[in-house]
Amino acid sequence: MARKPSRAGAATSRRTFLRTGLVVGAGTVGAGLLATGSPAVARASSSVITGDVDILRFLAAIEIIESDLWEQYNELGGIQDSEGLGGSGNPFYTAALQVLDGDMPQYIHDNTDDEFSHMTFLNAYLSQVLGAAPVDLSAFATLRGSVATGVNTAKIGKRLTNLLQLNVDTSWWERYRSTENPDLGGTFDPAVPTLSQPNGQFPAIPRDDTDTKGSKVKKPSTHLQAIANTAGFHFGFIEQGGTSLYPTLALQVTNAVVLRILLSIGPSETMHFQTWHDKAGNAPALTTTINGFTLTFPDLAGSTDPLLKANLIMPEPCDFISERLPECAIIRPTLDQFGGAVATVNAFTADGLFIGQSAAFFTTLMNLAKAADAAQRGC
Ligand SMILES: [Fe+2]
Ligand SMILES: [Fe+2]
Repeated sequence: MARKPSRAGAATSRRTFLRTGLVVGAGTVGAGLLATGSPAVARASSSVITGDVDILRFLAAIEIIESDLWEQYNELGGIQDSEGLGGSGNPFYTAALQVLDGDMPQYIHDNTDDEFSHMTFLNAYLSQVLGAAPVDLSAFATLRGSVATGVNTAKIGKRLTNLLQLNVDTSWWERYRSTENPDLGGTFDPAVPTLSQPNGQFPAIPRDDTDTKGSKVKKPSTHLQAIANTAGFHFGFIEQGGTSLYPTLALQVTNAVVLRILLSIGPSETMHFQTWHDKAGNAPALTTTINGFTLTFPDLAGSTDPLLKANLIMPEPCDFISERLPECAIIRPTLDQFGGAVATVNAFTADGLFIGQSAAFFTTLMNLAKAADAAQRGC
């Protein structure tokens, strides 16, 4: 049997496509593909309704946001290679991340690569197959971001998302260990309560080189380890959002090909989440003060509480559809008031991810979200 190409080879060709095929004018290529494309593509595009386009456009926006934030993590903490994701790495921050797992730089790199592929594919499908307008948020990429050693200096002042002042909601940790379901009224306490205090605004990447001062590669400072721990839990927060968003919106999709897109990208978000869920549990216990706020990471690995114990990373069976039915191991939530488009924007906003963004940005994103949530499954 012929061997499949190596990941490195496949990734290189994907990155090449990224560089050359990112922005395509709406309608132009789409019209060509519709005229000359495969019967399956023509069939798919002719039956795609407005609601499906609205769902794909919101998902493209979310993937642009994910790409922006993951790119910032990758510049400082990911593997630096020929794939051209930018940055040169920060050895002190990378070492602090590797306290959670020696492979963190590889996982960060690959999560970043995946988000770029999601963003690029969705916009290409919208424009090239459906003849719909792709999503472009570049006008809002104006945030300063980190200036620490290792960032892509060409991107300073051109970030879409904020990673310097976060309030990370870590209730997903208990949610996946609990037998309760948020769709049926379940509520959950955060695993790291001080990380979600509303005014904490903790950095998840070094803001500048003062955040790495006093660190050694073999011994990160407590301050820098707290920043790396924050990132470790933020990775899980972001990817559990995608884990719920895709199945929630899939319930409103009409066209089978669009449904296939959501059912195929969504579980890759879950694969990311599961990886980060496992790694966050390795964040060392510590207490420090950042921005005047006490930040404590508890000893989750040593906990015996089934709602906190670090290695309980498989989804605990929980209530599903009805509390009268047997509990079932599932993704949750999947109802739109908790896991839908507007809920995702609200959660990312509460996270601090958009601190510094303009009113026009929020209006644009919320309009995309409301349109996606309003989509209704046809017949
Ligand atoms: Fe994604
Ligand atoms: Fe993701």
